[in-house]
Amino acid sequence: MEEEILYKIILVGESGVGKSSILVRFTDNTFTPHFAPTLGVDFNVKTIRNKETGQTVKLQLWDTAGQERFKSITQTFYRGSHGVIVVYDVTDPKSFDRCKNWVEDINQNTQDGMIIILVGNKSDLTSQKKVSTEQGKALADTLNIKFLETSAKENFGVTQVFDLLVQDIEAT
Ligand code: GTP
Ligand code: MG
Repeated sequence: MEEEILYKIILVGESGVGKSSILVRFTDNTFTPHFAPTLGVDFNVKTIRNKETGQTVKLQLWDTAGQERFKSITQTFYRGSHGVIVVYDVTDPKSFDRCKNWVEDINQNTQDGMIIILVGNKSDLTSQKKVSTEQGKALADTLNIKFLETSAKENFGVTQVFDLLVQDIEAT
């Protein structure tokens, strides 16, 4: 029998940027416009197949709460993780500005070489977009991490985030 590969992935970012929505889109292929803030941390599992190797990879997905009062809980979840997804909302510059703090926080609480992806979510809201794709890319370049835009609502870019993450984890 094949050895099972398991990667621990964490989603962080400000409250309301769409972390839970990205995960629900990825695991259940559904979306709800109703906002129910995550309390503490939620957990989910999804098995995917690596297209190149054919290997089955189990993803242990930790969905953290963006609200400030849960921040110390979030920090304890970095330990033992293989990859972190830092999410902002493209209509909310404040959530974008906070991303460098999230990445600093990750780097301070994990070993060197943690795989981090910056994700600009809600790309469907084109007329309300305030953080340009170029700004997202530029920040990711500065922080030396990868970057993608997504829409959990329209199922744009979501599987790519996890594919890219797994690719990068396996390349290290
Ligand atoms: P916390 O759990 O508090 O940290 O928030 P969160 O980052 O998990 O945000 P959540 O996924 O709960 O989404 C917040 C709100 O944004 C909800 O009302 C979602 O329906 C909405 N939302 C999430 N993703 C998208 C998207 O891609 N497009 C649009 N238009 N709305 C979205
Ligand atoms: Mg949430």
